[in-house]
Amino acid sequence: MLTPGLLIVGTDTGVGKTTLAQGLLRIASRKHFRLVPYKPVETGCAPHPEDARRLCAAADLPGLRPDDIAPFRFAHPVAPSVAARLAGTPISAQALRSHARDLRARGDALLVESAGGLLTPYASGLTSSSLSELFAVDILLVAPNRVGAINQAALALAEIRHRQLRFAGLVLVQVAPPSPLTEVHNAAEIAALTGITPLGTLRHCPGQDPDQLANAVAADISLGGLFGGVLA
Ligand SMILES: Nc1ncnc2c1ncn2[C@@H]1O[C@H](COP(=O)(O)OP(=O)(O)O)[C@@H](O)[C@H]1O
Ligand SMILES: [Mg+2]
Repeated sequence: MLTPGLLIVGTDTGVGKTTLAQGLLRIASRKHFRLVPYKPVETGCAPHPEDARRLCAAADLPGLRPDDIAPFRFAHPVAPSVAARLAGTPISAQALRSHARDLRARGDALLVESAGGLLTPYASGLTSSSLSELFAVDILLVAPNRVGAINQAALALAEIRHRQLRFAGLVLVQVAPPSPLTEVHNAAEIAALTGITPLGTLRHCPGQDPDQLANAVAADISLGGLFGGVLA
């Protein structure tokens, strides 16, 4: 049975969420699996939503534009709850869910990119982690493959367990050129500490070309457990 969607959440901001999503979306496009991207809240729009642009370009779905997939767009590059307060536009869970339903109806499944990390706030009582329950989608956790990632990944996994959230897997991303010291040890240390073996480590791919990212994601990440295996 197909999982209807995934929520990509980071251990932090700038850890490779959009980069991984671009690769997954382009793989789906090649396989004629209509994976619809969704960026519920994008902050730091100057003035356009850059993540939504990258996600839309990678998905290559006819008629889907960046503004369609990013209903809440804010100028200030801060947490969604803060940006919303500064703009005087409250973020409502109901609006986020109804947008998720509309987008899911435009394809076969939803690929949601959260803002920042699990406990990044959107509104009172609403964090990135809440989106998993709100949209009924599994979490794909992304951690950067660098010094500090073991602790960050273990903390996030502990929170996912504590909240009993739906979990699909952990992906490490080589956000900077690899250093032999972290590269070979992080995945094994995380597995030993948490019992969760990462699905893979996405290599460093400068340039953000969706086709190159798709090739790298297909080569580096075990995709069999995602979306009923249609991307593998
Ligand atoms: N696999 C990668 N190869 C090269 N650079 C990367 C990679 N992943 C991330 N980066 C770099 O890190 C930055 C942040 O990545 P991004 O995917 O936008 O993170 P997030 O969506 O988590 O904020 C990118 O602009 C890029 O410079
Ligand atoms: Mg992003």
